[in-house]
Amino acid sequence: MEKLSTLFVLCSLALCASSFVLQNRVNEDSEALALQEWYDRLPDMPQKVTKLHFYLQDIVSGPNATNIPVAVANSTKKSPTLFGLIGAIDDPLTKGPGRDSMIVGRAEGLITSASLEETAYHMTLSFVFTGGRYNGSSLSVVGHNPFYHEYRELPVVGGSGDFRLARGSALLRTYSFEKTGDAVVEYNIVVLHYC
Ligand SMILES: *[C@@H]1O[C@H](CO)[C@@H](O)[C@H](O)[C@H]1NC(C)=O
Ligand SMILES: *[C@@H]1O[C@H](CO)[C@@H](O)[C@H](O)[C@H]1NC(C)=O
Ligand SMILES: *[C@@H]1O[C@H](CO)[C@@H](O)[C@H](O)[C@H]1NC(C)=O
Repeated sequence: MEKLSTLFVLCSLALCASSFVLQNRVNEDSEALALQEWYDRLPDMPQKVTKLHFYLQDIVSGPNATNIPVAVANSTKKSPTLFGLIGAIDDPLTKGPGRDSMIVGRAEGLITSASLEETAYHMTLSFVFTGGRYNGSSLSVVGHNPFYHEYRELPVVGGSGDFRLARGSALLRTYSFEKTGDAVVEYNIVVLHYC
Protein backbone atom coordinates (compact mmCIF):
# COMPACT_ATOMS: atom_id res chain seq x y z
CA MET A 1 0.00 0.00 0.00
CA GLU A 2 2.79 2.35 0.98
CA LYS A 3 4.64 1.49 -2.20
CA LEU A 4 1.52 2.26 -4.21
CA SER A 5 1.05 5.70 -2.67
CA THR A 6 4.75 6.52 -3.16
CA LEU A 7 4.35 5.54 -6.80
CA PHE A 8 1.28 7.77 -7.03
CA VAL A 9 3.16 10.77 -5.62
CA LEU A 10 6.06 10.17 -8.00
CA CYS A 11 3.67 9.96 -10.95
CA SER A 12 1.88 13.17 -9.92
CA LEU A 13 5.23 14.96 -9.65
CA ALA A 14 6.20 13.73 -13.10
CA LEU A 15 2.86 14.95 -14.49
CA CYS A 16 3.34 18.38 -12.86
CA ALA A 17 6.85 18.61 -14.26
CA SER A 18 5.76 17.71 -17.79
CA SER A 19 2.85 20.18 -17.81
CA PHE A 20 5.24 22.85 -16.49
CA VAL A 21 7.58 22.21 -19.42
CA LEU A 22 4.65 22.38 -21.85
CA GLN A 23 3.41 25.61 -20.25
CA ASN A 24 6.83 27.23 -20.66
CA ARG A 25 7.06 26.22 -24.26
CA VAL A 26 3.62 27.70 -25.04
CA ASN A 27 4.62 31.04 -23.58
CA GLU A 28 7.83 31.30 -25.56
CA ASP A 29 6.29 30.64 -28.94
CA SER A 30 4.18 33.33 -30.58
CA GLU A 31 2.28 30.90 -32.83
CA ALA A 32 1.35 28.81 -29.80
CA LEU A 33 0.38 31.94 -27.92
CA ALA A 34 -1.87 33.01 -30.80
CA LEU A 35 -3.55 29.60 -30.63
CA GLN A 36 -4.09 29.98 -26.90
CA GLU A 37 -5.56 33.48 -27.39
CA TRP A 38 -7.85 32.23 -30.13
CA TYR A 39 -9.40 29.79 -27.66
CA ASP A 40 -9.65 32.55 -25.03
CA ARG A 41 -11.71 34.64 -27.50
CA LEU A 42 -13.88 31.68 -28.52
CA PRO A 43 -16.92 32.49 -26.30
CA ASP A 44 -17.37 35.84 -28.15
CA MET A 45 -16.65 34.62 -31.65
CA PRO A 46 -19.58 34.42 -34.07
CA GLN A 47 -20.02 31.32 -36.21
CA LYS A 48 -20.46 31.35 -39.94
CA VAL A 49 -21.47 28.94 -42.67
CA THR A 50 -19.08 28.35 -45.59
CA LYS A 51 -19.91 26.41 -48.75
CA LEU A 52 -17.20 24.74 -50.81
CA HIS A 53 -17.44 23.05 -54.18
CA PHE A 54 -14.72 21.05 -55.95
CA TYR A 55 -13.94 17.77 -57.67
CA LEU A 56 -11.75 14.96 -56.34
CA GLN A 57 -9.56 13.26 -58.97
CA ASP A 58 -9.08 9.63 -57.86
CA ILE A 59 -6.45 8.03 -60.09
CA VAL A 60 -5.83 4.30 -59.52
CA SER A 61 -4.34 3.42 -62.94
CA GLY A 62 -1.01 4.17 -64.59
CA PRO A 63 2.35 5.27 -63.25
CA ASN A 64 0.98 8.40 -61.56
CA ALA A 65 -1.73 6.77 -59.46
CA THR A 66 -2.82 8.93 -56.52
CA ASN A 67 -4.67 6.05 -54.85
CA ILE A 68 -2.50 3.04 -54.05
CA PRO A 69 -3.35 -0.17 -52.18
CA VAL A 70 -1.24 -0.52 -49.04
CA ALA A 71 -2.82 -3.55 -47.35
CA VAL A 72 -5.07 -6.50 -48.12
CA ALA A 73 -6.19 -9.60 -46.27
CA ASN A 74 -5.84 -13.04 -47.83
CA SER A 75 -9.60 -13.13 -48.27
CA THR A 76 -9.82 -9.70 -49.97
CA LYS A 77 -9.40 -10.95 -53.53
CA LYS A 78 -12.23 -13.47 -53.04
CA SER A 79 -14.53 -10.80 -51.64
CA PRO A 80 -17.03 -9.24 -54.09
CA THR A 81 -16.69 -5.97 -52.14
CA LEU A 82 -12.86 -6.19 -51.76
CA PHE A 83 -13.44 -6.27 -48.01
CA GLY A 84 -10.23 -5.51 -46.11
CA LEU A 85 -8.47 -3.48 -48.81
CA ILE A 86 -6.82 -0.33 -47.47
CA GLY A 87 -5.64 2.35 -49.87
CA ALA A 88 -3.60 5.48 -49.23
CA ILE A 89 -4.63 8.49 -51.30
CA ASP A 90 -3.18 11.86 -52.20
CA ASP A 91 -5.87 12.91 -54.68
CA PRO A 92 -5.90 16.37 -56.27
CA LEU A 93 -8.96 18.52 -55.58
CA THR A 94 -9.78 20.61 -58.63
CA LYS A 95 -12.01 23.57 -59.36
CA GLY A 96 -13.64 21.90 -62.36
CA PRO A 97 -14.20 18.24 -63.30
CA GLY A 98 -11.31 18.03 -65.83
CA ARG A 99 -8.05 16.44 -64.76
CA ASP A 100 -6.13 19.55 -65.88
CA SER A 101 -8.46 21.92 -64.02
CA MET A 102 -6.93 24.23 -61.39
CA ILE A 103 -5.83 22.38 -58.24
CA VAL A 104 -7.24 23.89 -55.03
CA GLY A 105 -6.03 21.23 -52.61
CA ARG A 106 -5.38 17.55 -51.94
CA ALA A 107 -7.37 14.80 -50.25
CA GLU A 108 -4.84 12.84 -48.19
CA GLY A 109 -5.54 9.81 -46.06
CA LEU A 110 -6.87 6.28 -46.02
CA ILE A 111 -9.79 4.55 -47.68
CA THR A 112 -10.80 1.16 -46.28
CA SER A 113 -13.17 -1.29 -47.98
CA ALA A 114 -15.23 -1.81 -44.87
CA SER A 115 -18.43 -3.58 -45.92
CA LEU A 116 -19.05 -7.30 -46.54
CA GLU A 117 -22.42 -6.53 -48.15
CA GLU A 118 -21.79 -3.75 -50.67
CA THR A 119 -18.96 -1.66 -52.08
CA ALA A 120 -18.63 0.85 -49.27
CA TYR A 121 -15.61 2.59 -47.87
CA HIS A 122 -14.68 3.98 -44.53
CA MET A 123 -12.95 7.27 -45.39
CA THR A 124 -10.42 8.93 -43.09
CA LEU A 125 -9.25 12.02 -44.96
CA SER A 126 -7.64 15.42 -44.60
CA PHE A 127 -8.65 17.93 -47.23
CA VAL A 128 -5.61 20.19 -47.40
CA PHE A 129 -6.23 23.45 -49.24
CA THR A 130 -3.26 24.78 -51.21
CA GLY A 131 -4.67 27.82 -52.99
CA GLY A 132 -7.17 30.63 -52.75
CA ARG A 133 -8.80 31.96 -49.60
CA TYR A 134 -8.34 28.76 -47.58
CA ASN A 135 -4.71 28.09 -48.55
CA GLY A 136 -3.04 26.43 -45.55
CA SER A 137 -6.28 25.38 -43.86
CA SER A 138 -7.61 21.84 -43.74
CA LEU A 139 -10.80 19.89 -43.09
CA SER A 140 -10.98 16.45 -41.50
CA VAL A 141 -13.56 14.16 -43.06
CA VAL A 142 -14.44 10.74 -41.63
CA GLY A 143 -17.31 8.47 -42.56
CA HIS A 144 -19.24 5.93 -44.58
CA ASN A 145 -19.13 6.07 -48.39
CA PRO A 146 -21.33 3.51 -50.20
CA PHE A 147 -19.71 4.15 -53.59
CA TYR A 148 -22.57 3.11 -55.90
CA HIS A 149 -25.22 5.26 -54.19
CA GLU A 150 -25.94 8.40 -56.18
CA TYR A 151 -25.41 10.67 -53.16
CA ARG A 152 -23.21 9.94 -50.15
CA GLU A 153 -22.91 12.13 -47.08
CA LEU A 154 -19.72 12.27 -45.07
CA PRO A 155 -19.36 14.08 -41.74
CA VAL A 156 -16.82 16.90 -41.53
CA VAL A 157 -15.53 16.39 -38.01
CA GLY A 158 -12.96 19.14 -37.65
CA GLY A 159 -10.36 21.29 -39.28
CA SER A 160 -7.39 23.58 -38.89
CA GLY A 161 -6.55 27.20 -39.70
CA ASP A 162 -9.68 28.99 -40.93
CA PHE A 163 -11.55 25.76 -40.25
CA ARG A 164 -10.44 25.32 -36.63
CA LEU A 165 -13.27 23.50 -34.73
CA ALA A 166 -15.30 23.19 -37.95
CA ARG A 167 -18.27 20.85 -38.19
CA GLY A 168 -20.27 20.11 -41.28
CA SER A 169 -21.30 17.78 -44.04
CA ALA A 170 -19.82 16.76 -47.37
CA LEU A 171 -22.19 15.61 -50.08
CA LEU A 172 -20.52 13.39 -52.69
CA ARG A 173 -21.68 12.43 -56.15
CA THR A 174 -19.68 10.45 -58.70
CA TYR A 175 -19.13 12.64 -61.75
CA SER A 176 -17.37 9.98 -63.83
CA PHE A 177 -16.12 6.43 -63.32
CA GLU A 178 -13.82 4.92 -65.95
CA LYS A 179 -13.20 1.25 -66.79
CA THR A 180 -9.65 1.75 -65.45
CA GLY A 181 -11.12 2.46 -62.01
CA ASP A 182 -10.26 6.17 -62.17
CA ALA A 183 -13.06 8.33 -60.82
CA VAL A 184 -13.98 11.98 -60.52
CA VAL A 185 -16.18 12.74 -57.53
CA GLU A 186 -18.03 16.02 -57.04
CA TYR A 187 -17.94 17.42 -53.49
CA ASN A 188 -20.36 19.96 -52.06
CA ILE A 189 -19.32 20.83 -48.52
CA VAL A 190 -21.16 23.01 -46.00
CA VAL A 191 -19.27 23.82 -42.80
CA LEU A 192 -20.00 25.74 -39.67
CA HIS A 193 -16.89 27.43 -38.29
CA TYR A 194 -15.69 30.55 -36.52
CA CYS A 195 -14.87 33.91 -38.10
C1 LIG B 1 3.21 11.01 -64.95
O1 LIG B 1 3.90 12.13 -64.39
C2 LIG B 1 5.04 12.51 -65.11
C3 LIG B 1 5.75 13.57 -64.31
O2 LIG B 1 4.86 14.59 -63.95
C4 LIG B 1 4.63 12.97 -66.51
O3 LIG B 1 5.77 13.33 -67.25
C5 LIG B 1 3.90 11.82 -67.22
O4 LIG B 1 3.40 12.27 -68.46
C6 LIG B 1 2.74 11.32 -66.37
N1 LIG B 1 2.16 10.13 -66.98
C7 LIG B 1 0.85 9.95 -67.15
C8 LIG B 1 0.43 8.66 -67.80
O5 LIG B 1 0.02 10.77 -66.79
C1 LIG C 1 -2.29 -15.89 -46.07
O1 LIG C 1 -1.75 -16.57 -47.16
C2 LIG C 1 -0.37 -16.95 -47.00
C3 LIG C 1 0.14 -17.51 -48.32
O2 LIG C 1 -0.78 -18.40 -48.87
C4 LIG C 1 -0.25 -17.89 -45.81
O3 LIG C 1 1.11 -18.23 -45.62
C5 LIG C 1 -0.79 -17.22 -44.57
O4 LIG C 1 -0.77 -18.12 -43.48
C6 LIG C 1 -2.21 -16.72 -44.80
N1 LIG C 1 -2.62 -15.92 -43.65
C7 LIG C 1 -3.79 -16.09 -43.01
C8 LIG C 1 -4.05 -15.18 -41.88
O5 LIG C 1 -4.61 -16.91 -43.36
C1 LIG D 1 -0.19 28.96 -50.30
O1 LIG D 1 0.52 29.21 -49.11
C2 LIG D 1 1.89 28.81 -49.20
C3 LIG D 1 2.49 28.94 -47.80
O2 LIG D 1 2.17 30.15 -47.23
C4 LIG D 1 2.59 29.65 -50.25
O3 LIG D 1 3.95 29.26 -50.36
C5 LIG D 1 1.90 29.43 -51.59
O4 LIG D 1 2.45 30.26 -52.57
C6 LIG D 1 0.40 29.70 -51.48
N1 LIG D 1 -0.24 29.28 -52.71
C7 LIG D 1 -1.11 30.03 -53.38
C8 LIG D 1 -1.63 29.47 -54.65
O5 LIG D 1 -1.49 31.12 -52.97
